[in-house]
Amino acid sequence: MRILVTGGAGYIGSHAVKLLGRAGHDVWAYDNLVYGHRAAVPQGRLIEGDLHDRGLLERSLRERNIDAVMHFAAFAAVGESVADPAKYYRNNVVGSLSLLEAMRAADVKKIVFSSTTATYGVPEQVPITEAEKQRPINPYGYTKLVVEQALSDYTHAYGFGYAALRYFNASGASPDGDIGEDHTPETHLIPLVLQTALGQRERITIFGEDYPTPDGTCIRDYVHVDDLGSAHVMALERLAPGVELKLNLGTGRGYSVREVIDSCRKVTGRTINVVIGERRPGDPPELIADASLARRTLGWEPQYTTIDAIVATAWRWHNSHPRGYAV
Ligand code: UFG
Repeated sequence: MRILVTGGAGYIGSHAVKLLGRAGHDVWAYDNLVYGHRAAVPQGRLIEGDLHDRGLLERSLRERNIDAVMHFAAFAAVGESVADPAKYYRNNVVGSLSLLEAMRAADVKKIVFSSTTATYGVPEQVPITEAEKQRPINPYGYTKLVVEQALSDYTHAYGFGYAALRYFNASGASPDGDIGEDHTPETHLIPLVLQTALGQRERITIFGEDYPTPDGTCIRDYVHVDDLGSAHVMALERLAPGVELKLNLGTGRGYSVREVIDSCRKVTGRTINVVIGERRPGDPPELIADASLARRTLGWEPQYTTIDAIVATAWRWHNSHPRGYAV
């Protein structure tokens, strides 16, 4: 298939581009490079453009005879979305609607969309199934939920087919060590801990150790970025007019912040200094996926099932690219 990947120069998008290329698809990354990295995309495969540029989107879809879209382009910093919701609604909601309109005009009606656990807010039950109520607790989560709803409405009215894949904690890097996670500023736990292992940070702060969990620190379900990518490829193959897939993507196993730090110590063999800080506002104690629907629907099976295996790939990237994509 010929596939346009928005946000294809970003963290998760670039891994999907690589997997799609390997699977024999004709792949084009569409990215404005605000947070994405040119070097994360194979040479000659980047269309530099913005989601708000409907004309360029439409031309890109038509001229390359695109069959389907994977839509990763979004801002994804929860704290920033609280401080500056306009930025999030403009980019994540208005930008996505611009994409959907370009798709409609170009008669491209298959789309796999990056959604998130953040659409569930604080869940009533863990592990979280897709039956859990979606009640976001921050603007980021709301922007993703609005787009899920738009996709459903477009599917019923205009014959779209979509998958909304709700990721738990995307992590790790390509095992080849050539692409990986490089955010500025970095807010995610594993890269911050590995930067501490590299001596780029003096210490890692644990945000709260008084949660109702066995060691008092928050538990998350870390899912490897290539496992997310493979689920996208599988979902794509199932799309047809009227198809709606809403699937959690996680391993079903949770690790606490302390367990993640211990894994990083083991994998890197380095000293990692830790201090205990305040809770970070808006962090639920425990988020673990029940991803059995994705397994049943797609035949998806995550290949990285332990935190050590995930951290090992992240370490290969950070250790060989201590400044990320900067040269
Ligand atoms: N943490 C620390 N210290 C740090 C950074 C993080 O203790 O310096 C803790 C957090 O409090 C949290 C855990 O590590 O308990 C994981 O934090 P991340 O920031 O890596 O990830 P989140 O679980 O907060 O966020 C992820 C995605 C978001 C998504 C969210 C849904 O990155 O895009 O899950 O809950 F919105």
